Amino acid sequence: MGHIVIDNISKAYRNRRRQRRAGDDPELRYGDQILVLDHIQLEFQDGEMVCILGPSGCGKSTLLKIIAGFDQPNDGRIVIDDRTVTRPGSDHIFVFQHNGLLPWMTVWENVGLGLRRMTDAQAKAERIAEYIEMVELDNFEHHYPHQLSGGMQRRAELARALAVNPELLIMDEPFSGLDFLTHMKMREEVVNMHEFIRKTTIVVTHDIDDALIMGDRIVVMSGQPSGIKLDRRLDFARPRDFQKEPALNQLRNEIFLMLGVPYAV
Ligand SMILES: Nc1ncnc2c1ncn2[C@@H]1O[C@H](COP(=O)(O)OP(=O)(O)O)[C@@H](O)[C@H]1O
Ligand SMILES: [Mg+2]
Repeated sequence: MGHIVIDNISKAYRNRRRQRRAGDDPELRYGDQILVLDHIQLEFQDGEMVCILGPSGCGKSTLLKIIAGFDQPNDGRIVIDDRTVTRPGSDHIFVFQHNGLLPWMTVWENVGLGLRRMTDAQAKAERIAEYIEMVELDNFEHHYPHQLSGGMQRRAELARALAVNPELLIMDEPFSGLDFLTHMKMREEVVNMHEFIRKTTIVVTHDIDDALIMGDRIVVMSGQPSGIKLDRRLDFARPRDFQKEPALNQLRNEIFLMLGVPYAV
């Protein structure tokens, strides 16, 4: 379960911009097709944490939307455990997105949202409690989102995603907008959570360190049209430390170069 094949995916959008912007192709006309993803071929193993890196606008979110069935490719297909994904709403996939909490519901109710199909009330309550405890919000289950800090909201969102127990968890820039310390803590939490549940998880990030610290596997996408620049397993022990692991640091420098930054920061 949780074996993903991204089979030869291509995606083009129509240009809907009437005004040209700096950097646009001078030949590009309104209504022309823009190729965003160009024959992407990837395969993820069950339980892997895959981190996808790439410059802004290279098509990361587009790829995630196609994997989740929210958007259709022009070519190719997504196969999850031998089933081709054709539509959204599968119970097997959960897309983690921030600001995904419903403001008029408590933490408890929000976490329970994905469990509507559980008919056994007691089992459902236990499941909700288990995941709220896992993200250490057990004293806040009756709070509303606005009564929580940004980091706590993000943890509630995580509990909600995990409670569904999906075969595939998709996270698009899960740490964006968090302050530095909360970002570090959440990152650790996601790594721990993954060690524990071992479900296939795809995390899109533009942060090289996030990808190298978290991933069992790192995929670097290049600019448009997007192709795969690097796809590598990361067999470094955890917790990972750039100082203690020269090969990891070396890879970090390589990726900086690959993304067009001539020096590592
Ligand atoms: N629904 C859409 N219609 C037209 N163009 C789109 C649409 N969604 C994304 N794009 C374009 O596709 C490119 C890739 O977008 P996206 O996947 O969001 O990039 P990323 O997540 O890597 O920053 C961008 O140039 C964006 O403008
Ligand atoms: Mg994006």
